[in-house]
Amino acid sequence: MGFANNGYPRSKMAIQRAGTAGQIGVHMAPLVAMNDDLIPFSPDSGDATALRRAFGRFGTGVTVVTVKTTQGPMGMTANSFASVSLDPPLVLWSPAISSKRHDSFTAAASFCIHVLGADQEELAQRFATQGHDFAGFDWTEDAAGVPTFAGCLARFHCNTYAVHAAGDHSLILGHVRQAALREDGASGLMFDQGRYGRFTPRDEA
Ligand SMILES: Cc1cc2nc3c(=O)[nH]c(=O)nc-3n(C[C@H](O)[C@H](O)[C@H](O)COP(=O)(O)O)c2cc1C
Repeated sequence: MGFANNGYPRSKMAIQRAGTAGQIGVHMAPLVAMNDDLIPFSPDSGDATALRRAFGRFGTGVTVVTVKTTQGPMGMTANSFASVSLDPPLVLWSPAISSKRHDSFTAAASFCIHVLGADQEELAQRFATQGHDFAGFDWTEDAAGVPTFAGCLARFHCNTYAVHAAGDHSLILGHVRQAALREDGASGLMFDQGRYGRFTPRDEA
């Protein structure tokens, strides 16, 4: 499964060793001498491909973040979500400045983060490709008018707590005003090296 336009890693891409076709960036003297298969590279070489692939080695869950805009409801698939603080309850995620949807998210006073279940790949794909088409999904508005999907594993209704510049992304911190949680143990939608999948506990493998 590929994600042609979102800049996220493709599963078929493999880092090639120096001296073979498609070698990555600028190879440098390793900062640590280790006898393993890792290929050192400099993220400052101007080629973000290897860095993107290295980031993509960190498997994550998948969320859809929603906001109310003057053009109607908007959403974006995001795996940059992280929990930050219990007291006060804070979460974060980071939209790319290059995204057409970026400014709507950084300007919003409130937003909702939906943690997707393994059966919600269609929702993830829809909001990775575009932001305004909510047709076919079960959704409503919360008290602040923020679009809210049914059937997720968890939901975090947030007021925007802070927005920080962070390179080519913005860092949006949310103060969780209300949360909702599904307690049936359903597995989450996962994302690893550009592929969707599901988590299998060791004792069920
Ligand atoms: C699994 C997955 C996770 C993503 N996570 C993020 C993210 O955290 N931040 C981001 O800016 N874009 C992320 N994207 C890309 C956006 O969903 C979307 O494709 C991108 O904003 C498209 O650009 P546009 O808004 O200009 O249409 C992700 C895409 C996928 C498939």
